[in-house]
Amino acid sequence: MQTIHVRTVPEYDVTIGPGLLAECGRRLREVLPLCHMAVVTDSNVAPLYLEKVKASLSEAGYQVSACVFPAGEESKNFHTLSNILEFLAEEHLTRIDCVAALGGGVTGDMAGLAAALYLRGVRYVQLPTTLLSSVDSSVGGKTAIDLQAGKNLAGAFLQPSAVLCDTDCLKTLPADVFADGAAEALKTGVLCGEELFSRMEHGLSASAPEEIIARCVSYKVGVVERDEKEQGERKLLNLGHTVGHAIEKCSNFTIPHGHAVAAGLAVMARAAERLGWTDEPVAERVAACLEKNRLPVRTGFEPRALALAALSDKKRAGDSITIVVPKAIGRCELKKIPVSELLPVIQAGLEG
Ligand code: GLY
Repeated sequence: MQTIHVRTVPEYDVTIGPGLLAECGRRLREVLPLCHMAVVTDSNVAPLYLEKVKASLSEAGYQVSACVFPAGEESKNFHTLSNILEFLAEEHLTRIDCVAALGGGVTGDMAGLAAALYLRGVRYVQLPTTLLSSVDSSVGGKTAIDLQAGKNLAGAFLQPSAVLCDTDCLKTLPADVFADGAAEALKTGVLCGEELFSRMEHGLSASAPEEIIARCVSYKVGVVERDEKEQGERKLLNLGHTVGHAIEKCSNFTIPHGHAVAAGLAVMARAAERLGWTDEPVAERVAACLEKNRLPVRTGFEPRALALAALSDKKRAGDSITIVVPKAIGRCELKKIPVSELLPVIQAGLEG
């Protein structure tokens, strides 16, 4: 079992290890007083883990209710958010109560946003069940829904009160869902350095993910503690995401987030190398590592379509957009470019 403390407001622990869902009630009781716990989860996760979580919370003395929405990125919208908010109101949750996000990135982002909005903010906890939510989205307090114009365009920052990451959940993930999370872990490896990156070059294993998750979370926590609201350094965590989000949008959100980020990461690494921005060759190594983890390194979308889609990205500020340039493994830099220069960058990344 590993515990990583996050010094934000509120401060909280990220606990990583096996068997945590079955004991979530007892563990949450250590940091949260007894209250009404509204579990928000999706139609894929509910049959697997909802009863276990409800039983553990009830046994610890919490009043428990559950809201289940249809699984998938297409649910990450105002309609589902509104249903969750209405549910919280129908269940008479009050300001001392808590939302528990049980599931992957979509669930965590949306339940977190519901918690940020309901009564102008109630507490929430994250119970991630995918690799993607374990290594990235459950930590750091970003919550959001998608808009027609693009990914995660309406959201809020709200830190959870606890994150319990049960690594047993990862053992039964479908291969493509596991690979989705590997993309975010790999992104963190490129940012963090050789030690983490090289561990993933032979492929991430579902049987021993605890150490990798802990390293990814530790790295992210350091960044979030220094720049919680993404004014500077936290933008580095968007490595691969400008093109990644554009791919998601161009695919009408049918390409999963991690797969889109993987292709976006490969495109940026190739572009950086072709444009002479790198200090050492990175593109081939990044692509080989992505492929080893069953992730795409190319996209079929046209550069113009991707550049257009990226214009509504959050990372745009007026006529500029900040991209993340991998200069070497463990050395990435923010580069603010005029929006008009994004197309040649993407073109360079697609050609290489
Ligand atoms: N997923 C990137 C971040 O939390 O900043």
